[in-house]
Amino acid sequence: MTDLHDDRILILDFGSQYTQLIARRVREAGVYSEIYPWDAPFEQISDFGARGFILSGGPESTLARDRPEVPAGLFDLGLPILGICYGMQAIAEQLGGKVENVGKSEFGYASVRARGHTDLLRDIQDHATAEGHGMLDVWMSHGDRVAELPPGFKLMASTESAPIAGMADEERRIYGLQFHPEVTHTRQGMAIYARFLHQICGCGSEWTSHNIIEATIADVRERVGNDEVILGLSGGVDSSVVAALLHKAIGEQLTCIFVDTGLLRYREGDLVMEQFAEHMGVHVIRVDAEQRFLARLEGLTDPEDKRKAIGNLFIEIFEEEAGRQNDAKWLAQGTIYPDVIESAGAKTGKAHLIKSHHNVGGLPEDMKLDLVEPLRELFKDEVRHIGVELGLPREMVYRHPFPGPGLGVRILGEVNKKFADTLRLADHIFIEELRNHDLYDKVSQAFVVFLPVKSVGVTGDGRRYNHVVSLRAVETIDFMTARWADLPYHFLDHVSRRIMNEIEDISRVVYDISGKPPGTIEWE
Ligand code: XMP
Repeated sequence: MTDLHDDRILILDFGSQYTQLIARRVREAGVYSEIYPWDAPFEQISDFGARGFILSGGPESTLARDRPEVPAGLFDLGLPILGICYGMQAIAEQLGGKVENVGKSEFGYASVRARGHTDLLRDIQDHATAEGHGMLDVWMSHGDRVAELPPGFKLMASTESAPIAGMADEERRIYGLQFHPEVTHTRQGMAIYARFLHQICGCGSEWTSHNIIEATIADVRERVGNDEVILGLSGGVDSSVVAALLHKAIGEQLTCIFVDTGLLRYREGDLVMEQFAEHMGVHVIRVDAEQRFLARLEGLTDPEDKRKAIGNLFIEIFEEEAGRQNDAKWLAQGTIYPDVIESAGAKTGKAHLIKSHHNVGGLPEDMKLDLVEPLRELFKDEVRHIGVELGLPREMVYRHPFPGPGLGVRILGEVNKKFADTLRLADHIFIEELRNHDLYDKVSQAFVVFLPVKSVGVTGDGRRYNHVVSLRAVETIDFMTARWADLPYHFLDHVSRRIMNEIEDISRVVYDISGKPPGTIEWE
């Protein structure tokens, strides 16, 4: 039987913000891909078993002294290589061409003329000029440019500001593109990747949700055998998909522990139980821990102290419950591929801590549980596709992210039950209206923040002196940077009215118009 990982592509990362996007595009084309840093040990790169390599873009200049380099041995492997942006410039520089900086950067749309009829771009075009030249609408983002082709290369694409916007050595199957085919603004981007992957590298299209599910189930069954497995179910996308997947793979051997912290969204605990326990027949233990969390949070106002308190108590409670599952041999976790990349980056000091994020983690040491992480190879969008394919409701699978400490960091300062209940209602109204107005999927994350200050208001029969809430909605791709969502005024007005009419404790609603940076998405 063929393994769906057999046809695989290795992406060498030169630090581009688009590197993960390249890996996702490759997988969308049905080919398994992984990302290594450009300076990974060469044996790891050559032993990976790639059918081809993609070199990402990056923020450096090949003209700088300590520039990142393409591992020299890569050119001797005889496998196809596609260099993008910095990746192309590095190929040009290292194989005897020339890169220059003319002091002009180019960001944004460009119209590229495809030249030279290469295997990579043949018959791929958006439109043709009056003279019959094929043109591509692409996304450019670069400072340097290639000034001279290396020996053996021919011109593959050009624009006015980048006369060498693409180059190819078809004999050695080495290609370079100055523009970014992974970005959706490059309309033929997927066609270009598909051409590289299927025709030039000879990869099939085995990497599909269906095949991933089948392979993961077989793998889990083989590893776990007849053992019992426990899983911390949070209601979030990742743990929900793990639950559905493991339930399908090992049925009754799975026990989920759902810790209701009292800091969850409106009716969240009930919904988790309805979906998993009632509809799917998954064995779920619900731990009602609201009192304990509120007690632990009493007197705490500093956001990091609150995060630590919530995280630690969560682990304590999870361990207590897990400890009762005497027969469990395995702990399942919803780790996904970006977590794996991030913790690899953390080892080399590349990741930067802004807030201490907590996830269900903390393997109970003395329980000696082995880890099963069925999503470890997957990107978030792949996890979602699998979730839908496994029959989870779309609404659940495409939910906005929710922080581990929950409403604990959305009630500014000290947390108490009254504030949490009020916030839950306001948040529910906002989310419900976003859905009603078909705006929920247009924003990346939306929620309400509770401000423990009081403000004067007036209603028909008198003065009100009550709390303030802020609506927060952002658009982002990676949650590292974000723009506040430009929601229509009439919509904001409607939400504001509903919140103030329906929730007595709130006398004022504001809308947060801070970007990230300098603001963060959450308020704490
Ligand atoms: P910030 O506020 O740092 O948030 O711009 C970026 C993303 O991370 C989420 N977030 C958290 N997630 N534990 C989590 O699991 C946390 O402590 C935490 N703090 C922020 C936030 O909701 C956003 O999606």
